[in-house]
Amino acid sequence: VTESRRLSARIRAVSQVPSRSVAELPVEFLGLHGAPIVPPPPHIVEAAERAVHEAVYPPARGLPELREAIADAAAAELGWRPQPDAEVIVTNGGMQAINAAFVALLDPGDEVLLPAPCFFYHQAIALAGGVPIHVPSDPARSYRPDWEALAAAAGPRTKLIVVTTPANPTGYVLTDEDVRELSELAEENDLAVVCDEAYDLLVYDGRRHLSPLREEALRERTVLARSFTKSYALAPWRLGYLVAAGPLAEGLARAVAWATLSVAYASQAVGVAALRGPRDWLPGVLSSYQTNRDRVCAAVARMEGLSCHVPQGAAFVWLDVRGVGAPSVVVADRLARELGLPATAGEHFGRPGFVRIPFGGDPKTIDELARRLTLASAWSLVPA
Ligand SMILES: Cc1ncc(COP(=O)(O)O)c(C=O)c1O
Repeated sequence: VTESRRLSARIRAVSQVPSRSVAELPVEFLGLHGAPIVPPPPHIVEAAERAVHEAVYPPARGLPELREAIADAAAAELGWRPQPDAEVIVTNGGMQAINAAFVALLDPGDEVLLPAPCFFYHQAIALAGGVPIHVPSDPARSYRPDWEALAAAAGPRTKLIVVTTPANPTGYVLTDEDVRELSELAEENDLAVVCDEAYDLLVYDGRRHLSPLREEALRERTVLARSFTKSYALAPWRLGYLVAAGPLAEGLARAVAWATLSVAYASQAVGVAALRGPRDWLPGVLSSYQTNRDRVCAAVARMEGLSCHVPQGAAFVWLDVRGVGAPSVVVADRLARELGLPATAGEHFGRPGFVRIPFGGDPKTIDELARRLTLASAWSLVPA
């Protein structure tokens, strides 16, 4: 497609969101999802129905009762309670939370460290005028951020580091030691930290999700971005939030309000119900994702030409396709067009040679995923 000369250089520099372009292919995709698909329980439906009668703009930072509920949940996890009126900001999904953080924190030319592979932050950073710097993580340690390499990459223009836990696409889950390393790196280089915790409830094998915002030394410089999409199976409601200490939160609130004024009332009402209501509709999600992960990884381990590590969290198999003998954009395209697999090329995550596939779905779908991947593994024997 030729770009219109009327478009800004900033917008010409970014692509469409990859999952959108996958959805636009004329292909019937296997029902695999990176976020839980669970029918809403009665308390969610009732909250949404009640919200229909509301007729005024919601407040810019979010409904007070939602910010209170978020602060209560955060207090239990972080060891300190963010002030609901000043330090919690409701957003249109985790995506707006991340974008608002970049708009609020970056000046043109500011560099952002990204342990890679990572989610599509480079695009949002470019839109905010920043310069993304991908720093390869350590595959031998399940893609743990390489703290030494990150320190070496930090220079006078480096303003920010983004960490994701659990990570998309690798599933790495930050440990206490990582949080200490992050804290040292941030302090030595005076960096702000954006921590994306969109997958906070999808953590496997008894591991614990740890937010860097628990660390006192990081509090003044850290922005936490969360989402209701995966953690509460509320993808259609586009709800997320930011937590940050005082002065940072003021800036974030401006970035959110100038983008969207506020978030839909019904979405926020649903968020209150999710946080305050019963949680018994969600635990099955974690065990089904863990079982799926085990099935896919065991199947891939038996294949020639493809391999993967076992992710510690999140919802994706990060497939090494270097044995196939074609660029990963080509492999992802073939997986999509020929096998109906919602594959995203590693190029989008700052790591060519790999492909990301979500593993949320029912057990039959996972068996079918394994069958189709076996067909793909044969591509390594017959060059494309
Ligand atoms: C790591 C990560 N952060 C943020 C998001 C955005 O989530 P949402 O806007 O649905 O809340 C996603 C979506 O896939 C993600 O994978």
